[in-house]
Amino acid sequence: MRNFSWLLPILLLALFCPKVSAAKVQDMPMLQPPLLRDKPAPQMQHWQLASPDGQIVLQVRLDAKALAYAVSYRNKPVLQWSKLGLQFSGQPALQGSLQVQQVEQQQHDSVWQPVWGQRARIRDHYQLLRITLAEAQVRAGQALARRFSLVFRAYNDGVAFRYEVPAQAGLAGDLVLSEELTEFAFARNFNSWWVPAYRDLSFEYQYLHSALFSVTVAHTPLTLLDDEMAVAVHEAALTNYSSMTLRSQGDNQIRFLADLMPWSNGDRVRTRAPFQTPWRTIQLAPDEVALLNSDLILNLNEPMAEGTDTSYIKPGKYMGIWWEMHVGEKDWSPGPKQGATTARARQYIDFAAQHKIGSLLIEGWNQGWEGEWWQRPPTFSFTKPVAGFDLAQVAAYAKSKGVQLIGHHETAAGIRYYEAQMAAAFGLYQQLGIHSVKMGYVGKRLDGTEWHDSQYMVQHLQKVVQTAAAHQVMVNAHETVKDTGLSRTYPNLMTRESVRGMEYNGGSPDTGNLPNHTVIIPFTRGLAGPIDFTPGIFNFNYQKNRPHNRVPSTLVNQLALYVTLYSPLQMVADLPENYLQQVDGKPQLHPAFAFIQAVPTDWQHSKALQGKIGQFLLVARQDKHSEDWFVGATTNEEARTLKLKLDFLKAGQVYQLTAYLDAPDAHWRHQPMAYQIKQQTVTAQNELTLPLAPGGGAALQFTPVK
Ligand code: NOJ
Ligand code: CA
Repeated sequence: MRNFSWLLPILLLALFCPKVSAAKVQDMPMLQPPLLRDKPAPQMQHWQLASPDGQIVLQVRLDAKALAYAVSYRNKPVLQWSKLGLQFSGQPALQGSLQVQQVEQQQHDSVWQPVWGQRARIRDHYQLLRITLAEAQVRAGQALARRFSLVFRAYNDGVAFRYEVPAQAGLAGDLVLSEELTEFAFARNFNSWWVPAYRDLSFEYQYLHSALFSVTVAHTPLTLLDDEMAVAVHEAALTNYSSMTLRSQGDNQIRFLADLMPWSNGDRVRTRAPFQTPWRTIQLAPDEVALLNSDLILNLNEPMAEGTDTSYIKPGKYMGIWWEMHVGEKDWSPGPKQGATTARARQYIDFAAQHKIGSLLIEGWNQGWEGEWWQRPPTFSFTKPVAGFDLAQVAAYAKSKGVQLIGHHETAAGIRYYEAQMAAAFGLYQQLGIHSVKMGYVGKRLDGTEWHDSQYMVQHLQKVVQTAAAHQVMVNAHETVKDTGLSRTYPNLMTRESVRGMEYNGGSPDTGNLPNHTVIIPFTRGLAGPIDFTPGIFNFNYQKNRPHNRVPSTLVNQLALYVTLYSPLQMVADLPENYLQQVDGKPQLHPAFAFIQAVPTDWQHSKALQGKIGQFLLVARQDKHSEDWFVGATTNEEARTLKLKLDFLKAGQVYQLTAYLDAPDAHWRHQPMAYQIKQQTVTAQNELTLPLAPGGGAALQFTPVK
C-alpha cells in the first residue's frame, strides 16, 4: 500500500503557519516522496520554500529533537534532512527543544549593477522564509531562553540560509562559538572536486577528484556532479566569522558537518550578539557549465554603502617585476640578482606604455627581503625602498608615461607586524598616486599560530580593505581566505589568489601544475569569485634555471585563459623581452600579443557555453565598453575539436573574427609556441570548428564591421 505520510507535514504547514497561505502551498511543485528516514514526530512542524521557477524545493521541519532542512532539485533529492544549530562554549547546544515564535515569507526581484564584473546587470530574484525560534525550556546552567532566526532564500540557481542571533539577555557579553551544528547530509554519492582543509598551503593545491564518500575535510567551494545535476556548496558574505569547511561524519559517509576553521586555542568564532553567520550556499544547475553562470554568491552580499567612492576603481591589465623572480632569473633579495631596480622598472614602464598595458607591479621594491624571508618573522619596511630602487623617481616616470604603479605588501604572514605599519604604508601610496596594492601572506600560520582561513584573517582582510578604500586603493590579496562575494559590498576588493596559481609552474620544486588544472579551477575555485591566476606566459623555454619546471600549456591556451579565468585585474605575466620576437634581426612585438592588448577585463555579458570539469571549457564574453565579443576555449592534456555556434552574436550584424588557434603540430610539452592567426567575417548564423591541441586552446575576437 502506498504511504501518504509525507503529506502530513504539508497539511500541518497550512495549519501552523498562518503567514503562508494554503493556496500558495498548493501552487508549489510536488515533492518527491519523503526524503526522511525516520517517522515524523506527531508535533512536527514543516515549511517549504520553492525557487521562483519551482525547480528547487527547500523543506524545513522542526520536531522535539531538532530543526532540519532538506533540498531537492527537479524532484531529485540533493540533501536529506540535515540538522541546524549553534553551540556556544559553556552552554547547552542551541538545537533541540525549540519553539516557533514567528514565520515570515517574502519575495524579492530587482536588478543591480556592479561597479565591475562578469555582467553589467545582475538579477536578484528569490523567495525568502524567516523562522524565528526560542528555546522551549531553560536548561541547567542557563538563566534565560535563547532566541535566533534561520533565514532561507531560494533562487533559481540555488538555495542559501544563515543564522541571525539578536542581542538578548540570554546571550550577553563575549561569546565563543565552539561549533556550528550545520549539517549537509547529501542524498547521493556525487563525483567531488575538492581541496583538503587544514593543510599548510591553504587553497594552493591541485584539486582532488574522488567519490563524495572519500572526502575527509574539504574547503569550499566543494563541487559535486552526477548525471542528473551539478552542485556547489560554499558560503557568501564571510565577515567577522571563520571560513567554513565540510567534515565527513565518518568513513564511507556522505553526511558532512560545517567545520569552522578555528583559532589556535580551538575557538571557532569569537563574537557578541547581535551577529549573523555567513550564508551557507548550495548552488544547483543541470550541469557544471550552468554552475558557472550563477550569480548566487554575489546576490547574497550586501549592496555597497550609498556614497561609496568608486572613482579610483578601474579594472585592467598589469605587468610585473615578478615572473623573472619565480623563474630564477632575478631575486626579491637585494644584491646582484635584485629584480626591483630603477633601471628595470623603467624598462617595464616603457614597454607597458608603448603597448597599452595600464599598470605595473614591482615586487621586492622595499627593504627586508634578505635571504629566506619566508622562514622568519617579517623584517619588511612598507615605506622604505631598497637601495638601487628610487621609488619617487619610478613613480614620477610611470606617471609621465601614463602607467599606474601597483604597490606590494608581502607580510610573510605577520599580521600584527603589518597592521602596525598599515596606515603609513597606505598613506605613502596615496601620496604617490598609487591606487592598487597586492599583498601576500606567505607562511604556514599567521603570526606563527593562526590558520589563513580563520576568523583572524577574515577580520584582518576587512581592515585591509577598509583602510585601502580610505586611501583610494584597490586590493589584490594573495594567500588570504577564500572569496565569498564581498566585492559587491567593497568594490575595491578586486581579486585574490586562493588558488594554486601560475607561480607554481615557475619555480615550485614539485615542477608545477598539471595541464588539467586550468580546466578544473573555473568550476571550483572560480565559483567563489575572481582569480589572480596570472596568465600570459609566452616563453616556455626558461629551463636554464628551472630544468624541471614548465608551464603546461600552449601559447594560445595562455591567451584563452584571459577569458576562461575571470578577474577584473589580469596579469600580463611574462617579461617584456618575451613578448618580442626577432624578425630580420630586429625585435618585433609577437603577433599573438595583440589578443592580450585587446581583451578587456570588465564585461557586459559572460556566458559559459560548453565544458566538462577537468576536460575543457569554452566561455564567451562581451566587452562592457564596446560591441566586441571574446571567446576563450581551453583543454586538458587531450586534443579535441569543439563546434561553436555563434548565436550569441547580435543577429544581422557582420563581425570581423580574429582567431588565435593552435597550429596542427602544437603540443603543450613538445611544441607550445606553434600557433596560427586566421581572419574571416562571420555572423550569428555561422558555426566554427575549433581544433585544440593537447594542453591547448582557442582565443577569438569578434569586432562588428561598421
Ligand atoms: C606568493 C605570491 O602568490 C606571489 O605572487 C609573490 O610573488 C610571492 N608570494 C612573493 O610575495
Ligand atoms: Ca601564492
